[in-house]
Amino acid sequence: MSPVSRTMFTTFILLTATFVSATSISYRHNDHHDASSTPLPSAWYHTAEHPVHKLFKRGPTDGVEYAPVGSPTWASAFPQSSPDVAQLPQAWTDALRKAIDDGKIPDVPRTSAVPDTDPTYPAGIDPMDPSVCSSTYKCRIPGDTWDAPEGVFGTGFDDTPTQPSIRLNQFLKDNNERTTHFMIGVNILENPEIFLDIFNHGSDLAVHTYTHPAMTSLSNEEILGQLGWTMEIIHNSTGGRLPRYWRPPYGDYDMRVRAIAREVFGLEVILWNHDTMDWSLVNTGGTTPAAINASMTEWLTGPKSPGLIILEHDTSDAAVDAFISAYPHIKANGWRFVSQAELPNGAGAVYQNEDDQGNVTPNAVAAKLELPTSPTTSATSQLPSQPPLTLKAIPTSSSSSKPISGTSAADSIPTGSVNVNNGSSSTLAQAWNAILCSPILLFLSLLA
Ligand SMILES: *[C@@H]1O[C@H](CO)[C@@H](O)[C@H](O)[C@H]1NC(C)=O
Ligand SMILES: *[C@@H]1O[C@H](CO)[C@@H](O)[C@H](O)[C@H]1NC(C)=O
Ligand SMILES: *[C@@H]1O[C@H](CO)[C@@H](O)[C@H](O)[C@H]1NC(C)=O
Ligand SMILES: [Zn+2]
Repeated sequence: MSPVSRTMFTTFILLTATFVSATSISYRHNDHHDASSTPLPSAWYHTAEHPVHKLFKRGPTDGVEYAPVGSPTWASAFPQSSPDVAQLPQAWTDALRKAIDDGKIPDVPRTSAVPDTDPTYPAGIDPMDPSVCSSTYKCRIPGDTWDAPEGVFGTGFDDTPTQPSIRLNQFLKDNNERTTHFMIGVNILENPEIFLDIFNHGSDLAVHTYTHPAMTSLSNEEILGQLGWTMEIIHNSTGGRLPRYWRPPYGDYDMRVRAIAREVFGLEVILWNHDTMDWSLVNTGGTTPAAINASMTEWLTGPKSPGLIILEHDTSDAAVDAFISAYPHIKANGWRFVSQAELPNGAGAVYQNEDDQGNVTPNAVAAKLELPTSPTTSATSQLPSQPPLTLKAIPTSSSSSKPISGTSAADSIPTGSVNVNNGSSSTLAQAWNAILCSPILLFLSLLA
């Protein structure tokens, strides 16, 4: 599959789900992002046998000199666009090979991604079969997070960091709130200051891939690169934090994609149950502020169960405005405002290597979380089934180039609830038509 057809690939249906996972949420420490010279915790969420341990081991004695975030050295060490599968770290490909040999990665064929049509599996493959379970065909993999607990507004933003992220982050600071940012690797390369601003505020960082492709259309190795490099740029730029959650672009994933994320990198999926379509505010014929206002009003004044996970983007001023406009109503209607990455397992489990106090304490090298004085980057970036951990009661003193943007990185539309082996794709074509998320910026950038 060529990068062009891959990136021209548009969107997917996700569903309103009825699955409810965690029932209570704890807020995170006020100080969980403080720098300190103590090593990262020895206790990880995953057992020591999980490959992610070895892949992202980091300690005071690792001998690595971490380049300052935003420096040319930092920027040039990462892929500048879609990761080249010929240049993946050997440890990653070894871990993938072992997972395959151990029978942990289902042998699901890739989809072909054709603009404005459903992504298709080869003839004879049933996307609704539990062994495939494609979200595009409205199959929902049990155990993944779609809903918030009752009364909770799960907050998160996709395709971060971009310029409008600055204003969103300032609004969150002013209101003493934190959110989850599903980050795109090349956008981090492009906007290191904004990345650090978000991180230093204490919002949660999660993975949204390196260049926002439709993941089911990729080879195993391409999936490895998309996830691995996004993990690595976040890890190496935050004193060693290793995200625990990811969100597939367009909500497009299946059993194979999910397994690679989980078995090699320890990543778990967070989806959504409502969609503002805010990415299309900037498109002629897209949604409007009034339409988002109406949807938000309906959701916020509607039933409290399941709680809300609303798909939002901080990729345009209009999208940020829509959130800011809705924010007082979230409070007025009695919703608890909780970062999405804290929904499945609580505030102390946002990063894989977080201790049970919710602390990820950077080691000495993490002191370099400030931009170098001349931050010219050389980035030419263009553009579960696992029972929840016991929730930790965390004492809290507070509530707790051209980046890929909304126009190119829209996600999807939620519809009715569907379970494995029971989906109707009647609204799928409708969604394909509705979503104009032709990724022109990404397309151009990949040609560049
Ligand atoms: C990230 O840090 C690891 C050590 O934790 C190092 O081996 C690797 O080279 C770094 N990656 C980049 C792209 O700088
Ligand atoms: C909807 O728009 C009205 C009129 O501008 C405003 O008063 C209200 O706060 C908005 N509600 C939401 C949810 O944005
Ligand atoms: C599929 O789910 C719908 C809604 O839950 C239900 O009404 C319908 O009977 C189910 N169909 C099958 C084939 O299970
Ligand atoms: Zn996205």
